[in-house]
Amino acid sequence: MSEYVHRAKKIVTLSMIKPDATQRNLTGDINARIEKAGLRIIAQKRLWLTKPQAEEFYAVHSERPFFEELTQYMSSGPVVAQVLEAEDAVNAYRKLMGATNPKEAEEGTLRKDFALSLTQNSVHGSDSRENALVEISFFFSRMELVG
Ligand code: CMP
Repeated sequence: MSEYVHRAKKIVTLSMIKPDATQRNLTGDINARIEKAGLRIIAQKRLWLTKPQAEEFYAVHSERPFFEELTQYMSSGPVVAQVLEAEDAVNAYRKLMGATNPKEAEEGTLRKDFALSLTQNSVHGSDSRENALVEISFFFSRMELVG
């Protein structure tokens, strides 16, 4: 796991552009906002998660009441998984995304501008550096982090 830290020049975080956003052709708009905020997209792939893959990715939420709805939704269409790099990537991306619930998200954040609901909230970002490494390794091999 630590190879990721050595390969990337700075801190890395895992981003997912969710099915509501890929469905509405928002990948380019979201990527432009990511890059404008100073985060570098050092790896990216579009894929359609199976239900078991969505359940594995969100396993920490398996006891939560929203788990079934969340994993159904996350396997309902394509997502774009990406690795973002910046000096303080985890926090920088969380700030850019805004609050999980778009009703609570600040002006100018991705979720304020794009999200449809708490579940269909357009983007996911890792909540810590430790989880970022786990989530990155779910989607990417070391050779896919190209800088
Ligand atoms: P995300 O950052 O991807 O992490 C877990 C997701 O569960 C979250 O964004 C929301 O899309 C979804 N979710 C649905 N209901 C809730 C809830 N009550 N609290 C937190 N997350 C929720």
